[in-house]
Amino acid sequence: MSLLDKHKKLERNSLLLLGMTVVVILIGGIVEIVPLFRMETIIEPVEGMRPYTPLELAGQNIYMRENCSVCHSQQIRPLRDEVVRYGHYSLAAESMYDHPFLWGSKRTGPDLARLGGKYSDAWHVAHMIEPRDLVPESVMPSYSFLMRNGAKLHNIDKHLKALRVVGVPYSDDMIANARIDANIQAIGDDVADTDGLAKRYGDKVNARDFDGQPNLVSEMDALIAYLQALGTFVDFESVKDVEGGAQ
Ligand code: HEC
Repeated sequence: MSLLDKHKKLERNSLLLLGMTVVVILIGGIVEIVPLFRMETIIEPVEGMRPYTPLELAGQNIYMRENCSVCHSQQIRPLRDEVVRYGHYSLAAESMYDHPFLWGSKRTGPDLARLGGKYSDAWHVAHMIEPRDLVPESVMPSYSFLMRNGAKLHNIDKHLKALRVVGVPYSDDMIANARIDANIQAIGDDVADTDGLAKRYGDKVNARDFDGQPNLVSEMDALIAYLQALGTFVDFESVKDVEGGAQ
């Protein structure tokens, strides 16, 4: 029986044909999908990426709780208008430590992926308290209560531990010092000894009293620490080869 005859048999038996078609699609599916389960195969590593500090993580938790993603995206697409407005387009590696990712799908307000360093802390405080004081036509809600609430840091070490389970490289040292690091970052290097924090997370970490209330590590401190870190980790001088793209 030639190969063609064998195929004739397949073509005349619809159930057999269906079965074999499914098998072929399954093989193709496995070959394409299985490698994606391994993060290192899909994310090109870039220099400068680090896990969030405990205070930034507390800020990200507030960002999630308040659902800022409903109005703000965190993904700059490689399109000319976006790159001109926001800066270098987002790389996969830049959200590799976000669990869950906060890319968002709606921009009632601007994209925040490269917000870090764009404004002063005082600007953020004033804007979060009453957006219309700075942008009269803003529809963003007021978040003044963040100034009064203490940041939830008593169990932030558990959060680091949980993130480690899903692959964020927090060391034992980082977990053991999480609560101290969080408080020290919000007190700032004028007053506190930030050497340990810098040793664990790098000397680019912003350590200062973000909200201007030295006696309270508030939710505003945590949120602004997070906002000021957004998009600042990767030094784009070192990833020149990905620049250009579709710009
Ligand atoms: C109802 C939609 C809405 C929600 C919810 C919202 N924002 Fe906004 N946001 C806006 C709009 C609109 C603007 C642009 C006008 C302005 O600056 O106020 C903006 C601007 C901003 C800016 C200035 C960005 C820039 O590059 O100029 C920041 C920072 C910001 N929002 C942070 C947040 C954070 C953090 C939260 C959650 C705590 C949040 N927003 C929730 C609508 C929203």
